[in-house]
Amino acid sequence: MNIDQAKAWNGPEGEHWAETDRRARGVNEAVDRYLFGAAAIGVTDAVLDVGCGTGETTRAAARHAGAGTAVGVDLSAPMLRQARAEADGEGLANVRFEEGDAQVHPFPDGGFDVAVSRFGVMFFADPVAAFANVRRALRPGGRLVFVCPRAMETCPWYTVPLTALLRHARPGTDVRAPESGMFSLAPRERIVDVLSAAGFDHVAPEPLDVALSFGPDAATAAEFYLGSGPVRAVREEHPHLSDDDVRAVLEEALRPYDRDGGVDIVGGLWLVTAIRAARANGR
Ligand SMILES: C[S@@+](CC[C@H](N)C(=O)[O-])C[C@H]1O[C@@H](n2cnc3c(N)ncnc32)[C@H](O)[C@@H]1O
Repeated sequence: MNIDQAKAWNGPEGEHWAETDRRARGVNEAVDRYLFGAAAIGVTDAVLDVGCGTGETTRAAARHAGAGTAVGVDLSAPMLRQARAEADGEGLANVRFEEGDAQVHPFPDGGFDVAVSRFGVMFFADPVAAFANVRRALRPGGRLVFVCPRAMETCPWYTVPLTALLRHARPGTDVRAPESGMFSLAPRERIVDVLSAAGFDHVAPEPLDVALSFGPDAATAAEFYLGSGPVRAVREEHPHLSDDDVRAVLEEALRPYDRDGGVDIVGGLWLVTAIRAARANGR
């Protein structure tokens, strides 16, 4: 179903995504505190991680559900390869990864107590169908907890480096939110509409402003951004920019955030919780 996404997250870029993801370790530490706080995973729970990437959150879920299980699903074979290797390296026996499109993946009906996602649910071609498929995978009373970005204007982690790069590439240009993907669930009413149409109840998006940590200094942060999707997209449009050029522009843009031994930039997020209601009408 999500053919373009599958190409993007697999294709020749796949290894690159996996590598970028590896470098991103720790960026989302503060996000995870909120995600797992809200998910309240029990020790025997079966947890589904949607769009799990290299499985950082799946492994965390498996540690919370020490006597249960955690299953990560993702479109990207290279990312899942890394996810499996890391889980093996940690000796986690209760974690499993499945390659598939969460929109249509044949999850077991009612097989999970909780579904989580960290930035993995904004890319569906048909979001209502995808969330309905995740809902089907939850037992009645099961809960969905995910984080996704709020409007681009609340995300200086995105706008600051990209604006600098775009203006360097073509003076006078400004950053625009992509039409699909990253910010597709930014409007609060969109989240409520989509999840309600997919059959979830008690849909509750809570706004959070979270400090994302991009490393110990501006040079490290620039290196992270260099491999990220948004920067790669700008570079595809402006192929004349060299690595060194881009690195220098990013580092300068990030330097004002290099404080107290780290580069922290705010991300405006939704922390969304919803329930698959236990209903008599079979919905
Ligand atoms: C921004 S990354 C987040 C990865 C991971 N959750 C994390 O926080 O590190 C988005 C992930 O969603 C996955 N994805 C996008 N569309 C998907 C779909 N329809 N089904 C499963 N995974 C999908 C991508 O392959 C990618 O790994």
